[in-house]
Amino acid sequence: MSVKGATHQDLTHDSAAKHVTGRADYTDDILEPIGTLHAYLGLSEVAHGRITGMDLSEVLAAPGVVGVLTAADIPGANDISPTGTGDDPVFPAETVEFHGQPLFAVVAKSRDAARRAAARARVEIDPLPHVLDPMGAIEAGYPDVTAPLKLERGEVAAGLAGSAHRIRGRMEIGGQDHMYLEGHIAFAMPGEDEDVVVYSSTQHPSEAQHMVAHVLGVPSHSVVINVRRMGGGFGGKETQMNLFAAVAALAAKKWNRPVKLRPDRDQDMIATGKRHDFVADYEVGFDGEGRIEAVEGLFAARCGFSADLSGPVTDRALFHADNAYFYPHVRLRSRPMKTNTVSNTAFRGFGGPQGVIVAERMIEEIAYALGRDPLEIRKANFYRPGGDVTPYHQVVEDNILERIVGELEASSEYQARRQAILDDNAKGGIIRRGIALTPVKFGISFTATWYNQAGALVHVYNDGSIMLNHGGTEMGQGLNIKVAQVVAEAFAVDIDRVKITRTTTEKVPNTSATAASSGSDLNGMAALDACEQIKARLVDFACEKWGVEATEVEFLPGRVKIGAEEIGFDDFIRQAYVARVQLSAAGFYKTPKIHWDRAKGQGRPFYYFAYGAACSEVSVDTLTGEYRVDRVDILHDVGRSLNPAVDRGQVEGGFIQGVGWLTSEELWWDGDGRLRTHAPSTYKIPLASDRPRIFNVALAEWSQNAERTIKRSKAVGEPPLMLGISVFEAISMAVASVADYRECPRLDAPATPERVLMAIERLRAER
Ligand code: MTE
Ligand code: HPA
Ligand code: MOS
Repeated sequence: MSVKGATHQDLTHDSAAKHVTGRADYTDDILEPIGTLHAYLGLSEVAHGRITGMDLSEVLAAPGVVGVLTAADIPGANDISPTGTGDDPVFPAETVEFHGQPLFAVVAKSRDAARRAAARARVEIDPLPHVLDPMGAIEAGYPDVTAPLKLERGEVAAGLAGSAHRIRGRMEIGGQDHMYLEGHIAFAMPGEDEDVVVYSSTQHPSEAQHMVAHVLGVPSHSVVINVRRMGGGFGGKETQMNLFAAVAALAAKKWNRPVKLRPDRDQDMIATGKRHDFVADYEVGFDGEGRIEAVEGLFAARCGFSADLSGPVTDRALFHADNAYFYPHVRLRSRPMKTNTVSNTAFRGFGGPQGVIVAERMIEEIAYALGRDPLEIRKANFYRPGGDVTPYHQVVEDNILERIVGELEASSEYQARRQAILDDNAKGGIIRRGIALTPVKFGISFTATWYNQAGALVHVYNDGSIMLNHGGTEMGQGLNIKVAQVVAEAFAVDIDRVKITRTTTEKVPNTSATAASSGSDLNGMAALDACEQIKARLVDFACEKWGVEATEVEFLPGRVKIGAEEIGFDDFIRQAYVARVQLSAAGFYKTPKIHWDRAKGQGRPFYYFAYGAACSEVSVDTLTGEYRVDRVDILHDVGRSLNPAVDRGQVEGGFIQGVGWLTSEELWWDGDGRLRTHAPSTYKIPLASDRPRIFNVALAEWSQNAERTIKRSKAVGEPPLMLGISVFEAISMAVASVADYRECPRLDAPATPERVLMAIERLRAER
């Protein structure tokens, strides 16, 4: 008999059946008490300007309306900035900073009434000049929203000057809407005195708690945030829920009634931040073999009107501007630019993908300049085993690049297929094909070092059932099942005994966002710590009662062996309870070894790296620019997987989300700063019909984390997103074929069919 649901087993997501049958409870499914009110936001229709008047009389007179909330109704601080700098108000009092900025909320008896009433506001705004994109912001002398970062090693100027070849270029990289299935929502219940409980769709309950307390002007102990699960977060709910939680809580306290705030999809897309788009200027110096000598890069990002997480996001872009490659001399700088747009935020990869794609662009530049296969250039520049140093002075200790890429090159039959494609394209048909094999190396840990901590609470009840609570949040990624597996294994009981409970600030305090892919690394360890404490007490109890040594007590599946005797787990727990053994523990974990000095640009920001590689083949119609992904092979490194079934799902989902970012998902603002792609009708995410025709996904089964992570696993949430770059590069190759691969197509992202067609026509015209 073995433990059902221990780690390293393929288990379905604990809520899979509930997800697909509609029985999983989301915040909007919570039964509304009689008297629940509904809020809706009123948004600015000007990108930048001074508020000279706000006439809400018609809003108040509309049917069903109970009241309105403006900046004047905030008892505490009018500030929900994650940085604490006050640049992010709940509602602005004087100056509007983007088209779509929430200015007030209407509270009514129904959501429909609130929504209709919001449209009746008459807001007068004196327009000021606005800037929408990062280059325009630099030209206009707009400030950085937060301090830029510089990473430097070696002698860049000398390195570039001494290189046999130098190429300089610019790449524009688009943003991305999170398009979670469940949008933002908050449901607030007023309590006695200063108390309020908010059900929030958030990746970061502790931050929501802190913000609600701050806005209400009460201590954090008066605010409880609960989240059972999210219908996707993808980084979009790391800070952007603050507004919804704060407004619902404000209204709940003001009218002493439960209040729900759920924007519709358009409002969610318009009023909440997205992935940062970047303009990257690069210069790369290299030798005749394609080996990089020096790299200089400037990464300007559209941060929007406030800092939010733009500091760590643009930092992470620089941390990944090397991807898998060693740069002997390097200088990388960020410009986190203020713009009059919604404040951009975390999105799967957190700036990393924008850095990685620039590294891959430089590889392409070198390959096309020298007439070589980009894969050869990649291999020539991989970090060498044995300790090359990154631009941030961390040694790459756990390098498995060559093995991952070598195995995928063989299993995908890259060489033979590339040759066949070259031969086919040489025939000059309308449909051209492309193939690309790209690697990823992704640093794991929050770069804000103090975030790398977690807590968990484990109770063993006296019937032998176990309650598990940890500070992480479930957004579909399978965190709960993984942590439950750790607990089941620790006590050697079947996983059915372990009840996973909703995340709440009441059980584990001061938690970090479930982000940076670190959820299972951090919370898995914290839960294990709690289990080990309880087990240690149980072992002491057994030693005392049965008169044995600790080494003679063993947790076997479903039972405990004490000396020569075996007792069922339930029976043992009941006896321990009667003997007054404490059967509850709070666990804690903090990641060892990491440190980071931002001012110097030096340290070890990452505990370890996760690796992967993808080989993608596409066909492009050179008359229309449309394309299709024909085949994808992936080999990804998750160390010793806690749950291979869940991890494969993360790899597949991350990859497809990366493909969407780089192909069809295009955000478009008009000259007035109004987002014109604010619904699925105009913003195109990948569909089931866009999946690769052949999709082979494998985990590197031989891999185990060199560091002492939970069961030697590795984080999986974000790294696979960057495997989507292989599709982008394969499209690039198909495009390059129309000019016999003599020129790097320099595609910008997203490579929409229009962009692909324009690139083809440009290359043909130049030929
Ligand atoms: N997977 C699903 N299904 N839904 C999500 O919202 N978010 C991603 C990733 N995978 C997400 C997801 C992001 S941005 C992160 S940081 C990680 O999951 C967070 O969870 P983890 O740390 O538990 O991996
Ligand atoms: N990743 C994701 N979220 C974060 C990070 C990070 O590195 N730092 C702060 N929030
Ligand atoms: Mo993920 S972008 O770190 O929430």
